[in-house]
Amino acid sequence: MTFLINQNLDRERTYGDTERSVVSLSEYERAKAEIECWDGYCPSQLYSLATIAEELGVQKVFVKDESTRFGLASFKALGGSYAVSKVLERGSARDVDAKSFTVVCATDGNHGRSVAWGAQKFGCNCVIYVPAHVTERRVQEIASFGAKVVRLEGNYDEAVERAADDAEANGWEVVSDTSYEGYQEIPSWVMQGYTLMVEEAFSQLPESEWPTHIFIQGGVGGLAAAVCGHLWESYGSDRAIITVVEPVEADCLYQSAVAGVPASASGTLETIMGGLSCGEISSLAWKILSPGIDAFMTVSDDRVAPWMRRLAEGRGDDSPVVAGESGVTGLIGLEAVSQDGELREQLQLCDTSRILVFSTEGATDPETYKDIVGQDFESIATAL
Ligand SMILES: Cc1ncc(COP(=O)(O)O)c(C=O)c1O
Repeated sequence: MTFLINQNLDRERTYGDTERSVVSLSEYERAKAEIECWDGYCPSQLYSLATIAEELGVQKVFVKDESTRFGLASFKALGGSYAVSKVLERGSARDVDAKSFTVVCATDGNHGRSVAWGAQKFGCNCVIYVPAHVTERRVQEIASFGAKVVRLEGNYDEAVERAADDAEANGWEVVSDTSYEGYQEIPSWVMQGYTLMVEEAFSQLPESEWPTHIFIQGGVGGLAAAVCGHLWESYGSDRAIITVVEPVEADCLYQSAVAGVPASASGTLETIMGGLSCGEISSLAWKILSPGIDAFMTVSDDRVAPWMRRLAEGRGDDSPVVAGESGVTGLIGLEAVSQDGELREQLQLCDTSRILVFSTEGATDPETYKDIVGQDFESIATAL
């Protein structure tokens, strides 16, 4: 485990135009109006897990459970599909029939499922590139929405490059959840879709119980930036203390915080937390993360399975939660900090703290989930 208080943090700074170009409350209103109209929309569950809070020495632990989001089992359903709707609304697509339009992306699974689902919903074509480690089950899920899936030999970052090259050659539109030089607008729509989840969580709590701390998992950083940006613009310096948690082998955000500028991951990218296996940060996300995040940390894979089992079990009066491998990372970070006196102090974590974590995926690969937890995810859901 590594931990770093962000040296670039400026809590008094007001949310300015640079940050607003990434996510903003005005764009949030548009995303909300669009997504709330989709069939099957309802806010995901927010659980207060009292037994876990007691064990970790804090007042509350709230878990936002994304396992049922639009039947796609992850928060990503809010982002990629929203970006597809925006792309089709935009000038380049307006004059053409959606059927002659093609969206593409690279994915570890969840973002691709969202883009493919959006493409099917809005009637355009879709090609999805998956790196070698993605399971066959995840590939089938994406293909079930009518997308063409191209499996590659390399890792996620190579899939991102290939998607961009093929799009350029064929006149397709890349709908990526990560941004790079000259490619910012679409990833900003993806991130704007995520902000609906943040707003839901706060509106599910009385103001007196709003979280004092958030532990949020990081892949390329789009999710963490959406959470931080939305709360920064809404509450300024009164926002919760936010810690980004990454797998130690895919620590691009942590390494960027150490360097003070975007940097690559220092590890192998091999992690059970597949959704977080990213070697490069989103340059757009960094605009918010660098000045806005309180701390960055990395955790190893060994606590993933115990936390998945523990959430499935629903200890004491706690509700069971179906949480996938990349869903429990925030809790792993919270656990590590809560057990270390010095880190508790640095993050001002105490017995009156209220923590929000996002269980960002459920059983996105049901077979892997069963192998780890020892139970079908459906049996856990029916126990609710
Ligand atoms: C389940 C899950 N959680 C968290 C993340 C991290 O999101 P980001 O890459 O925007 O940091 C991902 C990314 O794919 C994911 O699939």
